[in-house]
Amino acid sequence: MMRALLGLNFAFLLSDVALAENFSQPIIWQDLADTDLIRVNDTYYYSGSNMHFSPGAEILRSYDLVNWDLQGGNVYNKGIYASSLRFHEATGTFYWIGCIQGTGKTYIYTAPNIEGPWTQTSIIQNYCYYDDGLLIDDDGTMYVSYGKWVANGTQAKIWVAELTSDLQNKQSQVVFNTTEEIGYVEGSRFYKINGTYYIWLTNPGVGNGQIMLKSSGGPFGPYDSWHRVLENNGQPVHGGSSPYQGAIVDTPEGKWWYIAFVNLWPGGRLPVLAPITWDWTGMPNVQFVNGDDWGSTYPYPLPQVPVTPISKLDRFSGPTLGPQYEWNHNPDDIKWSVKDGLHLETATITDDFFSAQNTLSHRILGPHSNATINVDYSSMIDGDRAGLVVFRYDAGWLGITKNGTVTTLQMVDYAIMNSTGGWHTTNTGSVVDSVEVHGGSIWLRTSCDISGSSGSAKFSYSTDGKSYIQLGHTHVMDNSQLFFVGARYGIFNFATKQLGGSVVVKSFEISA
Ligand SMILES: *[C@@H]1O[C@H](CO)[C@@H](O)[C@H](O)[C@H]1NC(C)=O
Ligand SMILES: *[C@@H]1O[C@H](CO)[C@@H](O)[C@H](O)[C@H]1NC(C)=O
Ligand SMILES: *[C@@H]1O[C@H](CO)[C@@H](O)[C@H](O)[C@H]1NC(C)=O
Ligand SMILES: *[C@@H]1O[C@H](CO)[C@@H](O)[C@H](O)[C@H]1NC(C)=O
Ligand SMILES: *[C@@H]1O[C@H](CO)[C@@H](O)[C@H](O)[C@H]1NC(C)=O
Ligand SMILES: *[C@@H]1O[C@H](CO)[C@@H](O)[C@H](O)[C@H]1NC(C)=O
Ligand SMILES: *[C@@H]1O[C@H](CO)[C@@H](O)[C@H](O)[C@H]1NC(C)=O
Ligand SMILES: *[C@@H]1O[C@H](CO)[C@@H](O)[C@H](O)[C@H]1NC(C)=O
Repeated sequence: MMRALLGLNFAFLLSDVALAENFSQPIIWQDLADTDLIRVNDTYYYSGSNMHFSPGAEILRSYDLVNWDLQGGNVYNKGIYASSLRFHEATGTFYWIGCIQGTGKTYIYTAPNIEGPWTQTSIIQNYCYYDDGLLIDDDGTMYVSYGKWVANGTQAKIWVAELTSDLQNKQSQVVFNTTEEIGYVEGSRFYKINGTYYIWLTNPGVGNGQIMLKSSGGPFGPYDSWHRVLENNGQPVHGGSSPYQGAIVDTPEGKWWYIAFVNLWPGGRLPVLAPITWDWTGMPNVQFVNGDDWGSTYPYPLPQVPVTPISKLDRFSGPTLGPQYEWNHNPDDIKWSVKDGLHLETATITDDFFSAQNTLSHRILGPHSNATINVDYSSMIDGDRAGLVVFRYDAGWLGITKNGTVTTLQMVDYAIMNSTGGWHTTNTGSVVDSVEVHGGSIWLRTSCDISGSSGSAKFSYSTDGKSYIQLGHTHVMDNSQLFFVGARYGIFNFATKQLGGSVVVKSFEISA
């Protein structure tokens, strides 16, 4: 830790402002689930799940494991659950691998730089490597550890596949049948540490658990020892679950750290970080506090390196969108552009927000934040709806409604989808309050609170960007786990009568 200490002292000399000694959980108050982690020299990369949002798995970058930004960009893909990210030193290539639930196939993307371009290098047709972990062995051979989703937890199995040099399935076999004592396991991460093969699994069946399997042989096992690393170990984020499922990484100095997540619906799954030590049996242990609790704070792993903050103003200067945004559904790319503002033409004729294309979403920043947009609505046409929404499978929004020549601002609530018998909209929402507006430009704001298990959003508007007037009531977010994604802010524009209308979103600002 010599370098870390030097870094810290140096910062103290340069500045009168003392750097915080410890970081607090969560390290990012945003829904960033199913973590995988790698280190390339002194840079850390974090990949997560995007579920049905487009464009695909997000990758974050950090130099200190605590401050992360999204400068790394996205892996372009559709519909991803837990996926895996690795760097092959020998060829200088990044690998991303994930099964797309919708197609039942596994996709491998590669890139010479984390920012891309990412190329689809292989599609493995008959294998969905569910919740996969990629291992690149010292000789370059690639192995994947994975599961298969099974309803009956006691039957959970973990497989290992060896890939051919052209990244197809060469051979694959069960390496671990779980036991009654261990319970259901999934979420493989595959490591080779000091010559030993390990499979790191989440164990949601027993409390919120994590176990490590250790092979006494090669990548195919035998995995004849296991160790429970987590089981209901405290609540590092007030109101959240105990941590589980994540990935481990070492620092250049050989210290190990673990990023897991805690559930705190409706905000989502929030990443938490803790140090790991290894015992004489070659098994890892989390450094708990107060006995067996994951700490709500720990000393910084490394000297702090600030990154672009999440709370910021975006004027959409173009030519494209930053990686912090994701579309709800695949976008209709003809209908949007970025140039001195986000131009959104209506892409769908519907009265159902959930089925409208080209809603641009952003994870809500917790625990409390405002999101504010400035919209030019002068080119909306009869029947159009555009505004700022807070949504998952339930939604409340503040939006402009064009009805003939009349333009009103409406606060709408109670729009909901139901998962029973396939996702479908059961309520398109009702108008809670409205006010007539003029002038063609307006600021719309939502003030969100996802600090606990009852999230809420208030809506207000401004005609000068300075003083805000609240409209409607407080939207209460559904806090069930259904759907596995956290609530988001969204910017929408859809038609109920005919296409052709448009809006220009001049800015999007998150402040906290
Ligand atoms: C890692 O650091 C070494 C030594 O400085 C350098 O040669 C190598 O190019 C670096 N690798 C990457 C991917 O940056
Ligand atoms: C799982 O299936 C096995 C075999 O059919 C059965 O014995 C066991 O009770 C089932 N367990 C659960 C949790 O349903
Ligand atoms: C897993 O269980 C099956 C039978 O259900 C058995 O054939 C196989 O050898 C077991 N594999 C391991 C690695 O224990
Ligand atoms: C790996 O081996 C090195 C050298 O023996 C040792 O210092 C280190 O603690 C080991 N790491 C782990 C995770 O066992
Ligand atoms: C920092 O964390 C350490 C260990 O978790 C704890 O002992 C110490 O009191 C914390 N310091 C502050 C200022 O919170
Ligand atoms: C549009 O305005 C007409 C005439 O005032 C009214 O009858 C109708 O209900 C309005 N439609 C909507 C969707 O507000
Ligand atoms: C979803 O639909 C089912 C079946 O119609 C119903 O029982 C359930 O209450 C609905 N859930 C919600 C949240 O509306
Ligand atoms: C959030 O919005 C509310 C309502 O407009 C305002 O009173 C508050 O100052 C804003 N806070 C931040 C941090 O922007």
